[in-house]
Amino acid sequence: MRHLIINCSQLLTMAGPARARRGAEMRSVGLVPEGAVLVDGGKILAAGPRGLVQAHELASSARLIDAGGRVVLPGFVDSHTHPVFAGPRLKDFESRLQGKGYADIAAEGGGILSTVAGVRAAGRDSLVAGLRRWAGRFLECGTTTVEAKSGYGLDLDSELKMLRAIKAVGEAGPLELVATFLGAHAVPGEMKGDREGYDESLCAEMLPAVAREKLAVFVDAFCEKGFFTVEETRRVFRAAAAAGLKPKIHAEQLSRSGSLAMALEAGAVSADHLDCVDDSDLARLAKAGTVAALVPGSNYFLAKPYPPARRLIDAGAAVALATDFNPGSCPCWDMRMILSIACTQMRMTPEEALVAATINGAAALGLERSHGSLEPGRAADLVCWEAEDYRELPYYFGATRAAWTMKRGVMVHSGREYRL
Ligand code: NIG
Ligand code: FE
Repeated sequence: MRHLIINCSQLLTMAGPARARRGAEMRSVGLVPEGAVLVDGGKILAAGPRGLVQAHELASSARLIDAGGRVVLPGFVDSHTHPVFAGPRLKDFESRLQGKGYADIAAEGGGILSTVAGVRAAGRDSLVAGLRRWAGRFLECGTTTVEAKSGYGLDLDSELKMLRAIKAVGEAGPLELVATFLGAHAVPGEMKGDREGYDESLCAEMLPAVAREKLAVFVDAFCEKGFFTVEETRRVFRAAAAAGLKPKIHAEQLSRSGSLAMALEAGAVSADHLDCVDDSDLARLAKAGTVAALVPGSNYFLAKPYPPARRLIDAGAAVALATDFNPGSCPCWDMRMILSIACTQMRMTPEEALVAATINGAAALGLERSHGSLEPGRAADLVCWEAEDYRELPYYFGATRAAWTMKRGVMVHSGREYRL
């Protein structure tokens, strides 16, 4: 189906080099006033000033979509989520409100391992149904591609069950899912006395099985005191490389362990969280090809200090923003809420936040050549917002459903407007 989208008050193309934007490059959103976009066969044919786009030889045969003087930009690419779980963790939430910490809650039987119990008990169909429901929420909120981690199974069968659920929902569409194997999320209760046995099963049993079934593109590890050490994570990354999975990491989240430096050496595609990085880490990231994927929704929800986004960008790093959607530390799937937090709490500019949520999110998934910008040949993933000016996106917060969401050239969400 061919569409010509006209009458965009502002079109943000994010046009530029097909790689993560770093430092001052993050200020450039490819702003076109009175822009238009021509899409065909799920891809962008042309995007830019209306006159130029309408001059395209295929423009006259396209179905017209009037954006109504609203802002249009690429769909958000949410590069870090844990969206497969069996229910919320309301008890943990209440305990935290009474002043208990993340670690105390885990020690009491809450935390990651309580979600593991729920996922192990759930059938694949119910995990699929749950994930499908979240997929609809992501699309309503303008997110068109989502990375989805396993990591609440923590044994071979349960990890495979999660990854198969992700595969089923991703293949059914329209939300595009990129799967990550996070067997190194926590050591499950039954293996507490045998960490080495668990590491061995991760590397020798689970990773090869995941690779054989092509169930994940990435491997991830929660490299943190009480979870996985730098040395254990390094071993997991080695086994992953042998199996053809690329590394991502939860790095320097609750404490600083040197996990980032190790991940950069291992060629991690992204290093995520980074709450506790120091100046030497900033300098490392400024030179690295690795994307710094910040998830400030988890800092908000856990009431923890934010990662140093401003200093990372000023040092020249490539920063992405993601939700970290999960039942423990960030029950939020709304990227606009994350943009609001990024601007108000971490002093990112609206331009930087939007680049971080689109092209840099794509780069955090190795999709910087096909997703995250509106340029010829790219996926026709675009969103129209109830806004005349793009700065309204991080300005208004809460209840931020998109006017419409298009995924690969197909309208997949169209919000109703209530007029009195
Ligand atoms: O990204 N850091 C570890 N994993 C998640 C939290 C998962 C959970 O609490 O269930 C995170 O914050
Ligand atoms: Fe996470």
